[in-house]
Amino acid sequence: MAVSIRSAPLGFAGEVSGVDCAAPLSSEDIAAIEAGMDRHAVLVFRDQPLSDERQLAFTRCFGRLEKYDTPGDIRKPSDRRLGPGVADFSNLTPAGKIMAADDRIWLFKLADQLWHSDSSYRPVTAKYSLLSGRIIPSWGANTEFADMRAAYDALDEGTKREIADLICEHSLIYSRAAIGFTELTAEEAANFRPVSHPLVRAHPRTGRKSLFLSSHAGAIVGWTIPEARIFLRDLTEHATQREFVYSHVWKPHDLVMWDNRVTMHRARRFDRNETRDVRRTTLTDDAPAAAVAAP
Ligand SMILES: [Fe+2]
Repeated sequence: MAVSIRSAPLGFAGEVSGVDCAAPLSSEDIAAIEAGMDRHAVLVFRDQPLSDERQLAFTRCFGRLEKYDTPGDIRKPSDRRLGPGVADFSNLTPAGKIMAADDRIWLFKLADQLWHSDSSYRPVTAKYSLLSGRIIPSWGANTEFADMRAAYDALDEGTKREIADLICEHSLIYSRAAIGFTELTAEEAANFRPVSHPLVRAHPRTGRKSLFLSSHAGAIVGWTIPEARIFLRDLTEHATQREFVYSHVWKPHDLVMWDNRVTMHRARRFDRNETRDVRRTTLTDDAPAAAVAAP
């Protein structure tokens, strides 16, 4: 059965049928999914029960897994519930219990409910993220996606000129500070040193320009902090208007794949007394999006 991708009714996202993500893919299947990613930037695969190993194998079809020596959160190796290469976005402790309301990891991960692009705080940012829904709470917990290509296109020409060669600084410190999580150890703060990325980038395959925004962005090179923060907030409000957003309502065994180079996303609230077990695999950006030079 051939891969097919349906546009409606998922907003700018595409819904994929004709693929078993747990089975090996043909080169035609991979090409069809990549073409779908170029067009939609978010793809939804329904009814895909996956083991962690199968999720990793499917993810590797589309690039190289992210691998960093420094952690992307505050978990210690002894805090980890899952194996290498699979990021844990559950509210579960390593023993499988629901995290306490004051669990430091729970508090840190709450900032994932701010609009962001995965790993924008890394020197090499993320290409695709793949999130597998294993256990879904009965209420809330949607994942929302905003199309940063459409958001860029909708800017007025003066703003496009103003932002063409701006460089932003991204750090987990900024996104955590936004929700009042400021108590980091010296080691954590050193791991989260800011990195710089252009605010406007072009997709390496389609050439289409997009905004590269994220709650991790907390400064603009050459600007004062207050002016940078208020401008980034303004751009984020613009870019996350409903017309640019697709809200994914999870069913168990959904797999959702998105291109971090051209989208932002955020988790939504749920009842923290219920289990949410979602697991992410992430590809590194082997063909970094080009910075767009000023005209
Ligand atoms: Fe994320």
